[in-house]
Amino acid sequence: IVFTEKQEALVKESWEILKQDIPKYSLHFFSQILEIAPAAKDMFSFLRDTDEVPHNNPKLKAHAVKVFKMTCETAIQLREKGKVVVADTTLQYLGSVHFKSGVLDPHFEVVKEALVRTLKEGLGEKYNEEVEGAWSKAYDHLALAIKAEMKQED
Ligand code: HEM
Repeated sequence: IVFTEKQEALVKESWEILKQDIPKYSLHFFSQILEIAPAAKDMFSFLRDTDEVPHNNPKLKAHAVKVFKMTCETAIQLREKGKVVVADTTLQYLGSVHFKSGVLDPHFEVVKEALVRTLKEGLGEKYNEEVEGAWSKAYDHLALAIKAEMKQED
């Protein structure tokens, strides 16, 4: 079994909690990305010309939501089918967007750490190693699929 029912439930439950305050958690998520890797800033169109992480920026929120939501969807696919299922065109598009933005493999680790820290912040006492493990596993599978597609662009 790649992904258990329990792991799927943990991912879904925690996303439900974070979803309740997207402005707060998307800001936290991006602040963490920039804390871990300050140089990542210039890759993002909405961060390039500012000194601080902008509040309530639609593009910033969209990227944060995409990362969390697609990881959550990946968790469901892993439990149901044992593999990542993302529409081919979506994966191709993701590969192309990230390749063109100058994203490199190590950046995926940065984003994963920021995701974990954001979960910690949002879940408080509900956060534990099992939750982290489930999210990490789903994220790793999704990141691998995107990275493979980026190599096609190379
Ligand atoms: C754009 C998802 C990881 C940097 C996008 C878009 C999506 C997305 C859906 C397109 C937004 C649009 O429609 O324009 C994801 C997912 C990720 C991930 C699901 C991981 C599982 C990363 C990482 C980086 C990154 C690791 C680099 C630190 C960017 C940049 C853009 C982008 C720079 C262009 C956004 C802009 O400048 O407006 N991502 N992403 N992403 N992503 Fe990611």
